[in-house]
Amino acid sequence: MNGRFACRFDPRRVTTPAYVVDKGLLQHNLAILARVKEATGCKILLALKCFAMFRVFPILAEVLDGVCCSSPHEARLGREEFGREVHSFAAAFSETDIADLALTSDHLVFNSFAQKRRFQSQAAEIAGQFGHRLEFGLRINPEHSEGANPLYDPCAPGSRLGIRWQDFLADQLDGISGLHWHNLCEQDADCLERTVTVVEQNFASILPHMRYVNFGGGHHITREDYDVERLITIVKRFQDRWGVQVYLEPGEAVALNAGYLVASVLDVQPAHPGTATNVIMDASVPAHMPDVLEMPYRPHIIGSGESGEKAFTCRIGGLSCLAGDVAGEYAFNQPLKVDDRLVFTDMAIYTMVKNNTFNGVQLPAIMLFHPEKDELELVRSFDYQDFRNRLS
Ligand SMILES: Cc1ncc(COP(=O)(O)O)c(C=O)c1O
Repeated sequence: MNGRFACRFDPRRVTTPAYVVDKGLLQHNLAILARVKEATGCKILLALKCFAMFRVFPILAEVLDGVCCSSPHEARLGREEFGREVHSFAAAFSETDIADLALTSDHLVFNSFAQKRRFQSQAAEIAGQFGHRLEFGLRINPEHSEGANPLYDPCAPGSRLGIRWQDFLADQLDGISGLHWHNLCEQDADCLERTVTVVEQNFASILPHMRYVNFGGGHHITREDYDVERLITIVKRFQDRWGVQVYLEPGEAVALNAGYLVASVLDVQPAHPGTATNVIMDASVPAHMPDVLEMPYRPHIIGSGESGEKAFTCRIGGLSCLAGDVAGEYAFNQPLKVDDRLVFTDMAIYTMVKNNTFNGVQLPAIMLFHPEKDELELVRSFDYQDFRNRLS
């Protein structure tokens, strides 16, 4: 069973719009990840930025070693709901972030030596006061691109993510036990192998001093054609050569093809001359699947083909006012009608979390300025519970 082509539930039983995650498909992915762990002894973290439906964390935690987080909200969710290791990284931390993360995280990864200088001892002190063990790492930039879209390439020229070898201060590694990088996006093990070779060349003098090295995410391990054996060989070789613990922190591979967005048809409009019929659904692309517009990509709908491939071609759009609230052109065997269900596939990854707050970033507060009193009124601010309660 591959959730890309079919679903095992009757979509008519779904009150739409709804995300539906298939627990069995998650378990299928977990079995593959468990095999990698067993064969290599590596640790695997779930990237919460991709999938953070904490209702299923108990199932995930049977196999995965913990979570990687990008914000205090994600780290708290990981600490409270996942209950295993919590690794936190952000392009930059603020003082308030550190006060939280020092207690909710087990590993704090800095993106620059300036951030390390500014926050390492503060974080260690806070953790120490509570008897909490905290390790520190540095994110490096391998300066090795594997052809991903520049929007998703942390090694693109001018990137703000990771420390390049020429900026790396080898004499400032006090208290640092790990290196971390992330440069892949939906890629196979050959891309990882080439990256590892570059890192081994540049950071050879640093690696023996580390306890762990985190290869980041972007490994499409659970995709049918992914070369799992090659991944196993790379991880084993690296651990043996450098005496380190390897971590992987995939997001997509954990919930790949394991979830759907189910919508209903609300209206079928008359076709304009020379264009496809517009079908309006009770979902919205920017509101419910913002990654479709950001990537951008055309999500697959079960039972559909490419435009013109089947008898009825239509343009499927959302109910919002945005002219571009359109998923794409699709062809079906029969004309769609009101109340038909549309089942979009692969909607567990980077979808639910994106319509919430991507990376768990703090939502801006809403304020009102009263010029007559020169007063700023806080109308509403959003806290951890607001973040958490939209995820499960
Ligand atoms: C630092 C880091 N780790 C892990 C991931 C997860 O990547 P993926 O979901 O592609 O496996 C990302 C994705 O952007 C990332 O930036």
